[in-house]
Amino acid sequence: MTISGKAKLAGVMGWPIGHSRSPRLHGYWLNQYGIDGAYVPLAVPPDRVEQAIRALPALGFRGCNVTVPHKEAAYRTVDRLDATAKRMGAVNTVVVGEDGSLEGRNTDGFGFVENLRSGAPGWSAADGPALVIGAGGAARAVVASLLDEGAPRVWLVNRTRARAEELAADIGNVDGGGAIEVADWVSRETLLEGAALVVNTTTQGMAGQPPLDLDLRALPGSAVVTDIVYTPLMTPLLSAAQARGNRVVDGIGMLLHQARPGFAAWFGHEPEVTEGLKAAVLQG
Ligand code: ATR
Repeated sequence: MTISGKAKLAGVMGWPIGHSRSPRLHGYWLNQYGIDGAYVPLAVPPDRVEQAIRALPALGFRGCNVTVPHKEAAYRTVDRLDATAKRMGAVNTVVVGEDGSLEGRNTDGFGFVENLRSGAPGWSAADGPALVIGAGGAARAVVASLLDEGAPRVWLVNRTRARAEELAADIGNVDGGGAIEVADWVSRETLLEGAALVVNTTTQGMAGQPPLDLDLRALPGSAVVTDIVYTPLMTPLLSAAQARGNRVVDGIGMLLHQARPGFAAWFGHEPEVTEGLKAAVLQG
């Protein structure tokens, strides 16, 4: 790839950043669309995040993605927040305005929902209650986006119940929309019976970790099962769901789709998620 002196610039800030797949992801799109631009990894230690984000306009950057552990610091640093970032208390996408101001957005929930829409055509959050397992950072985006998209109810279970209660209190219920109901870890298999969607947001099932401890016996055949873990792509949970005939959606698509709004804002082209992109991102 050749870039000129006028190249549009963006990147991803994290610490560490070496394992991020975002440079490969955006680099693929830049090549694909023949855009004069660059998207680079930015290794920024925690004590310099604010300084680094503030420097984006001075360096001529159009913006950046923000990843672990800087999403909350970015939330505190930007000049403006979109409604989703405000609700989330976290920013994953920073867009530099014409006037040099910094806008913080959160596209993780968008990525989650778009991945389900494309991986399970016809799926709608309004189809029925969702069972969300886990209460970390990713679960926040998942729960908020499901409620925003019209899920009638989200059952939230986490090994440590207090964290699920905290998430529910922070995300809250939407006016006229669905509700979050925190349930005990031990009740997760009972809840499957009424679920239209099951989401694993825990680290269980990741390579090197034990599988998620969940017997799917009670789950209706029409339910969709998805995992935010994508190493491996087919987690034990997804394999078990597929084997009993449920539709499954793997987790890499959430990463691919969350990247779309940032790319469009920085580089001026609405990018597409394709099999070629998926293969390129998984290669690294
Ligand atoms: P994030 O990075 O998204 O904030 P995290 O803090 O690493 O996430 O949390 C990952 C999730 O995996 C949490 O819901 C965690 O449960 P706890 O809150 O009880 O720690 C869950 N998790 C991790 N190990 C687990 C295990 N062995 N069994 C069940 N859940 C587990």
